[in-house]
Amino acid sequence: MDKYIIITGASSGLGKETAKKLAQEGYKIFAGVRKQQDKESLESIHPNITGIFLDVTNEESVQKAFDIISQQTKEIFALINNAGIALGGPVEYLPIEMLKKQFDVNVFGAILMAQKFLPLMNSKDNRILNISSMASYGVFPFVSPYCASKRALDMFFNSLLIECKHKNLKIISIKPGVVSTPIWNKSVDACEEAFENVSQECREKYEKELLFLAQNARKNTQKGLKSEDIANLVSKILSSKNPKLSYNVGKDSYTARFLSLLPQRLCNMLVKTGLKCRIK
Ligand SMILES: NC(=O)c1ccc[n+]([C@@H]2O[C@H](COP(=O)([O-])OP(=O)(O)OC[C@H]3O[C@@H](n4cnc5c(N)ncnc54)[C@H](OP(=O)(O)O)[C@@H]3O)[C@@H](O)[C@H]2O)c1
Repeated sequence: MDKYIIITGASSGLGKETAKKLAQEGYKIFAGVRKQQDKESLESIHPNITGIFLDVTNEESVQKAFDIISQQTKEIFALINNAGIALGGPVEYLPIEMLKKQFDVNVFGAILMAQKFLPLMNSKDNRILNISSMASYGVFPFVSPYCASKRALDMFFNSLLIECKHKNLKIISIKPGVVSTPIWNKSVDACEEAFENVSQECREKYEKELLFLAQNARKNTQKGLKSEDIANLVSKILSSKNPKLSYNVGKDSYTARFLSLLPQRLCNMLVKTGLKCRIK
């Protein structure tokens, strides 16, 4: 029997690579996109991929996607909440609209998708995979919107797992470290735009840190894990009878987990010193 999987945010990066890998393995993929050219590009990769217009922050768009998908199948094997953006800046000056946007995509969007599609997940073996992040451990200064969103994502879905009456629903959090994808450049561009109108005072106070973080983020598009590493793990999790609740991917993700286990004061001191040493 065909196994249907929904992947949000499949236009690039991890989502696109995962769609490709799973389609090659025989799964039927509904790949969430927001542009016609991304739909065409994905559908040209493999006949098992159907591009679906899906903005996870827009209820009407999610409903439309549901209407299309539910006409094709009454059973979704897995939902992969992958759509995400990464925003940051000093908490003291964070534009509140920016914070809301961060949570709209990474948290509320994923919850909306789960609420909408759970009625199509009634078999014994359904799964929701959330592409969380090592940021969920919350040890990264100046990217607190992103970190908080990933922590919130993990918290909400852990509650869902405990509360949920879907008998055997499995909910899995994947926490990659740095992966080379377009998210980093997009993130710097979005942050620069958001902080364009921020006061001179903020610039003077945090210029060095923000410059360092922007340069570091741009470098991340070249270094780090490959999208294939995450796609391979997703494939493994989907075929595992008894997947874990949480997976770390990459040394940096294990380090973030370790740091988060230390007493908060010690963890903060290490992070602060580390940042100081790197920003000259
Ligand atoms: N790259 C990393 O180092 C890393 C590490 C850990 C976790 N992650 C997580 O991995 C996931 C995928 O990110 P990526 O690195 O592959 O970055 P990416 O290439 O920028 O992919 C992000 C995807 O999310 C989509 N998206 C953004 N806003 C959306 C919205 N409102 N509705 C629907 N889709 C939306 C984008 O679509 P458009 O093209 O239409 O904007 C794009 O397809 C994210 O959740 C990210 O937080 C990434």
